[in-house]
Amino acid sequence: MKDKDRLCLMIFVILYISQTTPTGGSGSTQAVLRGPEYAYLNTKINFSCEVLGSPPSATYQFMKMKDTPLTTEKNLPTHQPPIYKLKAITTSAGEYYCRVTALGKTVTSNILHLQVVIPVSGASVVSVPSPPTEFEGSSLALYCEVQKGSHLSYKWFHNRLEVTAPSLTYNLSGNSLTVDRLTKRHAGSYYCSAWNDIGIDPRYSSSSEIHVTVKVYLTAPKLSIALFKENCNYYANLSCESAQGTVPVTFVLLLSGQETDRQVANSLSVWFSVPLMVGMDTVTAQCRAEATYQQLNSNTIHLEMAPVGGTVHLHVDYLYNTNWQVSAVRLQCDVSRGTFPSYLWLHNNSLLQQSSCSTISGDQCNVLFLTDVTHVNFGYYQCHVRDSFEDNSSWIQSDTVLVEGLDFPVNITEVIAVVLCCFLLLAMIGSLLCILWMSGPVVQSQHMTLSEQHREAIPMAELSPRPENKTMAANEDFS
Ligand SMILES: *[C@@H]1O[C@H](CO)[C@@H](O)[C@H](O)[C@H]1NC(C)=O
Ligand SMILES: *[C@@H]1O[C@H](CO)[C@@H](O)[C@H](O)[C@H]1NC(C)=O
Ligand SMILES: *[C@@H]1O[C@H](CO)[C@@H](O)[C@H](O)[C@H]1NC(C)=O
Ligand SMILES: *[C@@H]1O[C@H](CO)[C@@H](O)[C@H](O)[C@H]1NC(C)=O
Ligand SMILES: *[C@@H]1O[C@H](CO)[C@@H](O)[C@H](O)[C@H]1NC(C)=O
Repeated sequence: MKDKDRLCLMIFVILYISQTTPTGGSGSTQAVLRGPEYAYLNTKINFSCEVLGSPPSATYQFMKMKDTPLTTEKNLPTHQPPIYKLKAITTSAGEYYCRVTALGKTVTSNILHLQVVIPVSGASVVSVPSPPTEFEGSSLALYCEVQKGSHLSYKWFHNRLEVTAPSLTYNLSGNSLTVDRLTKRHAGSYYCSAWNDIGIDPRYSSSSEIHVTVKVYLTAPKLSIALFKENCNYYANLSCESAQGTVPVTFVLLLSGQETDRQVANSLSVWFSVPLMVGMDTVTAQCRAEATYQQLNSNTIHLEMAPVGGTVHLHVDYLYNTNWQVSAVRLQCDVSRGTFPSYLWLHNNSLLQQSSCSTISGDQCNVLFLTDVTHVNFGYYQCHVRDSFEDNSSWIQSDTVLVEGLDFPVNITEVIAVVLCCFLLLAMIGSLLCILWMSGPVVQSQHMTLSEQHREAIPMAELSPRPENKTMAANEDFS
């Protein structure tokens, strides 16, 4: 492999030398052609031909491959080398050299390869698909097209920031910017800039901006309900909301399966109002979000307006942390009937909240969380419930519940020890009674020794710091 490479390099060097050094320049005379490699179309350029080795005068001729004389042979003093002026047109591209005759010898110069460059103009962005509005996950290609131009390179700008290659977000190749899977971050404005990449004097042409829209698939809407009053009448405020999606979205309200309302929205949520009356028949409400290629239904809500009634039950849960200490207390107030209850909480017989908290299904007004488990929060709790839509309805009271500081035995081995001791004690007493019962009158004489055994068992039971019934109280109501 290495030898091959070396051989290739040598051949290349030989070819290069034979191309660029004046051929036939043995001896002291050498000709050098100087000039540009690139010329913009319709610009003027100069080639000069110099002779090295300073003979007093020489005959010069500019040539173009293959052997086309561009000038007639001219004899000039060597300190005044001739210049060949050229206006670059399309056909000017090619290989140039000069031929010099001095001291009876003719040498040819190095060869210059001239490329004629068309200045770039009229850049524009072409998108596939067009217009560039696509769903997440689909592909997109943008091409930077120019009306004119050669020797071009391209730059891309997203939201006015240059996209630098290599990029994880885009594939850049030639005049294209492509994305295999569109995400939301690909959205925004794009423009490209094409330029003549010839090392010096680049010219630029920038396109106008194109706006890429990445559409997001709709997510199923969520229907929620709130109650509101207007002119003594009650209405359900049914909010239908999708978490994601591209607007516009059409939201449809379905009552008992029938389309009853429809709104085209430039947002992801709308609300519908439906009149409510006490004692009305239950109606199922659902909403549907519609967008191109998509139709998604929400959860179902049962619309009814039943007054609060029956009994109110207050339920207490102690929540423990990993050290078996009470970290929070959760109080939940449940009423057996009623669709729009309003709640009041009392602690040691005084109101906890200034205003009552009215709730519709889903709201957590009926739950009180005590996260600060200190003596201040201990005491007696009670909740009161009534209809949130009936200002003069009377409050139904729950039973009163005592919240107190309950610590679980500090570690689980203690719990096990307590349970084990109790079990042992019971087993001992049990077997004792058994023996007593079986041995009948004989036992009387042994009574002293047995009760001594019993006495030994008691200190074992006292090893447990807390009685078991305290731990069991954790989930009980203290009414
Ligand atoms: C070419 O040579 C002329 C003088 O002969 C000079 O005025 C002109 O600027 C030169 N052009 C370039 C591109 O060097
Ligand atoms: C770029 O192209 C490669 C190969 O085609 C592909 O695997 C990759 O996902 C593309 N990257 C982007 C951002 O489109
Ligand atoms: C209905 O609820 C929405 C929010 O879910 C709210 O913006 C709107 O103002 C409510 N309408 C009424 C009449 O309360
Ligand atoms: C409520 O009563 C309990 C027990 O009587 C007491 O420990 C607690 O400090 C009282 N809290 C308030 C805020 O009055
Ligand atoms: C509440 O007040 C209204 C009039 O404002 C009355 O018609 C209704 O009977 C009252 N309800 C109760 C439970 O007192």
